[in-house]
Amino acid sequence: MNSEKIVLSGMRPTGRLHLGNFHGALKNWIRLQDKYNCYFFVADLHSLTTAYDQTQNLAANSQAMLIDWLTAGLDPKKCTIYIQSDVPEISELNTLLGMITPLGWLLRNPTYKEQIQELLKQKYAGQLDEKSLGEKLSSIAGDEEISSFGFLGYPVLMATDILIHQSSYVPVGKDQTAHLEIARDLARRFAEIYGTPAFTEPEPLYTSVARVPGLDGRKMSKSYNNAISLGEDLETVRKKVMTMFTDPNKKKATDPANPEGCVVFAFHQIYNPNAAKRCEECKAGALGCVACKKELFALMEPELKAFSERRKEFENDTDLLQKIVTEGKEKARASAAKTLASVKKIMRITK
Ligand code: TRP
Repeated sequence: MNSEKIVLSGMRPTGRLHLGNFHGALKNWIRLQDKYNCYFFVADLHSLTTAYDQTQNLAANSQAMLIDWLTAGLDPKKCTIYIQSDVPEISELNTLLGMITPLGWLLRNPTYKEQIQELLKQKYAGQLDEKSLGEKLSSIAGDEEISSFGFLGYPVLMATDILIHQSSYVPVGKDQTAHLEIARDLARRFAEIYGTPAFTEPEPLYTSVARVPGLDGRKMSKSYNNAISLGEDLETVRKKVMTMFTDPNKKKATDPANPEGCVVFAFHQIYNPNAAKRCEECKAGALGCVACKKELFALMEPELKAFSERRKEFENDTDLLQKIVTEGKEKARASAAKTLASVKKIMRITK
């Protein structure tokens, strides 16, 4: 490790990782664990901000995600790995930070608005047009199923995650920028109100990571139904690869095409060491999309197989997993407790 600076990031437990999380975020975390003092956690409480009524798989999903992380190479000897709800100090600091968070910051948060729009679309799929959706959006406080206190408070909880470990850098996607801004603002606001700073002001870390589009070219996401997950059976993966979007102007195998924006090409850039050559071949119309897709799957298959094999070690060793989770919890609690104690002193809750 060449820096004492703290890096922190988390993911909501959606079950098995999809290839977007895997190549886009996790591989970056694995690089970072050698460079910084890293904290990586399963954000299970954050899942409750929207799916509070679907908790049947929550614990299993947290565990599945942890196993994927470990299989991919996140190493508990190099970084602190924990489950958010295992650290009660987070919930306590969340309460305190909630007290000083202006409601306007949360209501104006663009990520909040976008997320509501997405949830409304899912809820009223096929029933409402854009205009009625817009009207619903403006009266969102009235939607009892979607708009909960916890949902509005999502960024406060996220700020708590970050501030509680005195994190300097937070590797996240650009879509998280507004949330991170709230964490920075809260750190400053706390210092202004109580006259003493308690937190490191975190900065986002936008490392250039692989772009992994979904099958249809949009962002890969389970809720868009365009994802390939780790652990999916290989025949399903093969079929999915064959449905990937390509340049719509390429009609015949011999038409020259534009690989920019082609999903298959984006994947070649990850899996094919000769992607540059493929780019030229595509532009020259030297091969058709079907052949290109077949070749891609042939490149993906051994990697996916090897991952599943390696994963069995952790699946079959529940003692080891339990030990990793417990040790992570203890390390995370020790660090969190320090910040919490100093916050309570500064706020004069304790002496
Ligand atoms: N909001 C993040 C996401 O949806 C997950 C998350 C929760 C997180 N707390 C965090 C990320 C703290 C970074 C830091 O991807």
